[in-house]
This record gives sequence, structure tokens and C-alpha cells, in this order.
Amino acid sequence: MTQHARQSGHFGRTTVGLALAITILLLASPAAAQNASNATLARVLVLGTGGTIAGQASARAGNAYDSGKVSSADLIAAVPGMDKLARISAEQISSIGSQDMNDKVWFDLARRIRAAIDSNEVDGIVITHGTDTMEETAFFLQNVIDTDLPVVLVGSMRPSTAIGADGPANLYEAMRVASAPEARGRGVLVVLNDTIHGARWVTKTNTTSVETFRSPDAGPVGYVDTGSLRFLQPAAPAKGAKLKLPEAPPLPRVDIIYSHANMDAAPIEDAVKRGAKGIVLAGVGDGNSSKAAIDALAAAAKQGVVVVRASRVGSGFVNRNVEVEDDKLGFAVSLDLNPQKARVLLELLIANGVTDPKAVQQAYGATP
Ligand code: DGL
Repeated sequence: MTQHARQSGHFGRTTVGLALAITILLLASPAAAQNASNATLARVLVLGTGGTIAGQASARAGNAYDSGKVSSADLIAAVPGMDKLARISAEQISSIGSQDMNDKVWFDLARRIRAAIDSNEVDGIVITHGTDTMEETAFFLQNVIDTDLPVVLVGSMRPSTAIGADGPANLYEAMRVASAPEARGRGVLVVLNDTIHGARWVTKTNTTSVETFRSPDAGPVGYVDTGSLRFLQPAAPAKGAKLKLPEAPPLPRVDIIYSHANMDAAPIEDAVKRGAKGIVLAGVGDGNSSKAAIDALAAAAKQGVVVVRASRVGSGFVNRNVEVEDDKLGFAVSLDLNPQKARVLLELLIANGVTDPKAVQQAYGATP
């Protein structure tokens, strides 16, 4: 890797989904060049996917903006002092709002990260990403990337052209984390608003606030600002086998069914008819649902559809065999994984041939 950064140019000129690399010079001044040529600096690869962090004010009225208009290389170049943190290269994987995140981009990201690690190109990875589905991408990568190196997702709640844009500070802080030896061995991380979260626990909790990411059951793993980086616990050694990334997308279809008062069986029966290989119940309370829905899920499980009960509540662990007879009906529970992350794991499990309810439960975590 050189001290050059690769970039794609403006998003509008890129082909979405292709990792497009064009060399740019991030190092304008001789002093900066000296800094960046410092071989002691960590090598960090920035992979751009789009999102509000790359958003620009739109010609539409009011405070409207369009996601994914600014390349990650341009974002980096706009943040002072980044060249003193790391030797940075940047590539564009996609240019989308993360509401459009999809299996193809996930596979492209995972393959590029693996290649960079296998060829010893990098000491850390930063992924710029929309906040809407950031937790799903983080958790997907956590399950398929086997590395001790820091892999850090970062985004912003305000577009780059907004008053008080939070993207530059978030990007600086993500770079600080990705280039830090003490960030190793902590799995995939999410950095926003001076806070570092772990992929298993983090979730978006507020539609607009810059303090949107929280880890309700575990708390953050650390804090970062321009002057300091603190982890609250020592790094834990990576545990558990990683799941194999299938040859090619798409992942098997897994639907999330949202439970509510007065619920009937129709959404579950429809999912089975549409060919869902797995169903995650976003259940009420402790992952529960109406008798009609539970009966329909039991019928689906009998037909070979893998059923996992999660909760729509937003925090807490779903317990087995309390109100719902999981052993008898052949269900697994997601424990602390929210429905959207339970879905990611179930897609990967089914793709890896893990469909037996006991093995599926084991993959979500041991239950007392
Ligand atoms: N379009 C949404 C996304 O890319 C906006 C949210 C954001 O990026 O903060 O996820």
C-alpha cells in the first residue's frame, strides 16, 4: 500500500456496486507528505458505501438531501488532520442510502475486506455507511470476517452540507479507532458521536438525533474524541467459528413478521407461500404472538421453515419455553439480538446448512 489514497471521484459518476479505485493525492503540503510517509502510521483502507455522511443538500425544498453523493475520498480530504492518524487509501464499494443496502454490497464489502487482510495491505478498515441499516451490515461482517484487525463502521445523522454536520468528527474518530492497536480483537465496531459500540449490541434508536446509536443490553465498548480513545474493558479473544460466506449472493430469503394486537396468521402464511426459508418473529414482549400466529409459525416449522423468535421491544433477552413451548414447536430464540440482526444471522445459518432448531439455537447463543 502506498501513502496515496484511491478514490472513485464523484458518486454520480460511479457504477453502483463496483469497487472503483482512482488514485488521489490526499497530501497537499510537504509537511503532510512527510507525516504520511511515516512508516509507523497504521495503514487504513476506507470503503465507501454511501449514506447521509456522503449526503448533499438537494434542490428539493426545505432541508431535503440526497444520500451518497460525496465520495469517501472527498470526505476524507475534507477532514483536517486525517493524514496524521494513518496512511489512508479509499475505495468506493457503492453509493447508496443504506435503506437500499443489499446482499451484493455485503458480499463486495466482505470480499474486499478479506482480500485486504489476506494480502497484508491494511492494519484497519473504516466503512462509511448510512445509519439506517448500519447495525445489520456491522453484524453481517462480524459473522463472516475472521480477523483481529479493527473493522469500523461510521456514518452521520446530518449530511455533509448541513449546519453542524457530524460526519467529519465521526470520520476522524473512526480513523482514530481503526488505526489504534488497542482496538484489535474487539470484533466489528460502530463509531458515531464520540461513542464506540460493538456489532452485536448496537442499534439505531432515534430518527434524527446525533446520539442515535445505543447498545441497550451491554452499553458502549468505549469512547473516542479528537484527543482520547478509551475502551471500557480489555479486548476479548474472538470466540466461535465464523460462518462461511456463500459463493455468491443472494442469501436465502428470511422474512421478519411484526407482531401486534389482533394478529392473524395471514402474514406468516404469505411468507411461507413467497418461499421464505426462515421467519424471524418480531414478537410482542418476550418474543410472543397471538395463538393464531404461533400456530401458523408451528405449521411453518413443521414444513421446514426455520423459525426464530425475537422481540419488538428493543432491549432484553428472549427466553425459551416460558410462555411459548419452543422445544415442542421447534423454534429457536434470538436472545439479545433484535429482529433485524436475528434475520442476518438466520440468512447466514441457512446458507451454511444450519437448520436444525437445536443447532440454530446454539448459534444464537446458549440458553440457561
Ligand atoms: N438514507 C439513510 C441511510 O443512508 C439516512 C440515514 C443516515 O445515513 O444517517 O441510512
